Amino acid sequence: MIGCLGGLGRSISKWMVKRGARKFVFVGRTGTDRKPAHQLVEDLEAEGADITVIRGDVGVLADVQRAVAAIKGPIGGVIQAAMGLNEALWTTMSVDYWHTGIDPKLIGSWNLYNALEGRTDDLDFFLMTSSVSGSVGTATEGNYCAANYFLDIFARFLRSKGLPGISIGLGMISEVGYLHENPEIEALLLRKGIQAINEDELLQIIDITICNKDSTPYDTMASCHVLTGLEPLGLKNLQKAGFSGTNPTLNDPRASVLAAVLDSDSDRDLKNGSGMPAELAAALENGNEELSILEAIVQLIVKRFSNLVLQQVDKIDPAKALSTFGMDSMLAAEFRTWFYQAFKVDVPFLTLLSQETTLHSLGGLVHAVVTESQN
Ligand SMILES: NC(=O)c1ccc[n+]([C@@H]2O[C@H](COP(=O)([O-])OP(=O)(O)OC[C@H]3O[C@@H](n4cnc5c(N)ncnc54)[C@H](OP(=O)(O)O)[C@@H]3O)[C@@H](O)[C@H]2O)c1
Repeated sequence: MIGCLGGLGRSISKWMVKRGARKFVFVGRTGTDRKPAHQLVEDLEAEGADITVIRGDVGVLADVQRAVAAIKGPIGGVIQAAMGLNEALWTTMSVDYWHTGIDPKLIGSWNLYNALEGRTDDLDFFLMTSSVSGSVGTATEGNYCAANYFLDIFARFLRSKGLPGISIGLGMISEVGYLHENPEIEALLLRKGIQAINEDELLQIIDITICNKDSTPYDTMASCHVLTGLEPLGLKNLQKAGFSGTNPTLNDPRASVLAAVLDSDSDRDLKNGSGMPAELAAALENGNEELSILEAIVQLIVKRFSNLVLQQVDKIDPAKALSTFGMDSMLAAEFRTWFYQAFKVDVPFLTLLSQETTLHSLGGLVHAVVTESQN
C-alpha cells in the first residue's frame, strides 16, 4: 500500500478491510507521524487487520525491497498511490519540481515492478491511482500530468508481462484526499465547474475497475486504463443553470462520443467559419463604429470570464481588477488559451495576473490587435 496512509489510501484501506483484507504493508516517507495515518493504523488493527508500516520512499529501490521483504506469504494486491506536487508553468519549471512530480510515480512504479519479481504469482491487482490530468492536461502541472500518463502506459506494460496492471485516471475527489484537505484548491476547481467524485463513488470505481476483466476485440488491454472525471452530465446541468460550461477536453476527438451527449449549441455561437467569434465578426462586418467593436469584444470576454469563475454575467463588473474575482495562475492559463483560440491574441500571462488588469483593459488590448489585423 504505497502512499496509502494519505487521504484516498486511508479510505481505500478501510474499504478493503470491509471486503475481507487482513494483511497490509504500508510504505510512506513519514510513516505514521501524521495523526490521520496513526489513527488509520489503530482503526484497522481494531478491525482485526495485521499492519506493518515501512518508513520509506517508493523512489528508492532499497526501501521498496525492504517493504516487499517484510511481506510474509503471498501478495494479493498492490496499490500505488504515491504522489508529489509542485506547480509551475512548463517554461519556468525547475528540474527539482519536475522530479517531485515524476519520481514517486515513474521511478516508484518501476521500483515496485522490479522488487516484486518472483512474488507475483498470487497478484490479483497492481492498481495505480493516476489522474484524468494525465489524459487531458492541466496548465501548471506538466510534471504531474506526465507522471500520470506514464502510469496509464505502464499499466499496459504490466499486462504485457502477464501482471494485472490497472491505472485509474481519477477526476477530482471530494470528501477525502489531497484536494479535500486543501479547501482553497477544492473551492477553485468546484468554481471552475469541475464535477467532483465523492468517496462512495471513488470506492465504487475502484471496485468495478478491479473486478472488470472485459476487453474489446480492438484493444485487448483497454480495461487496464479507466478514465473518470469528465462528467458530461454534470456539465449539462451547469449549462441548464445558465453557464455555457466549457470543458476543453470535449473538443478533443477522443471525447467525441461524450461531447455528442452535450448540446453543442452553447459553443456554436462562439465561433464562425473564420475562427473568429461570431458576435465579433458580425460587429466587424456591419462596419460599426470602433466603440461598438470594443463593446462586442468586452461582452465576449465578460461572458467567457463568467463561465470561468462561475458568476452570472450581470455580477461581473468589467472595470474591476481581475484579482478581485480570485484570478490565479490556473484560471489565468485557461483564460489565456481562450484568448488565443477566440481572437488569435496572445495575452501575456503576467498581464492576466497583474493587479491592474481588468476585463475592460483586456478588451482594449484585443481590440488593438484585432483592428490592426483588419487593416
Ligand atoms: N485527491 C484527488 O482528488 C485525486 C485526484 C486524482 C488523482 N489522485 C491520485 O490519488 C493518489 C492519492 O492522492 P491523495 O489525495 O490521497 O494524496 P495525499 O493525501 O497527498 O497522499 C499521497 C501519499 O503519498 C505519499 N508519498 C508521496 N511521495 C512518496 C514517496 N516518494 N514514497 C512513498 N510515499 C510517498 C505521501 O506520504 P509521505 O509524505 O509520508 O511519503 C502521502 O501519504 C495520488 O496518486 C494522486 O495522484 C488524487
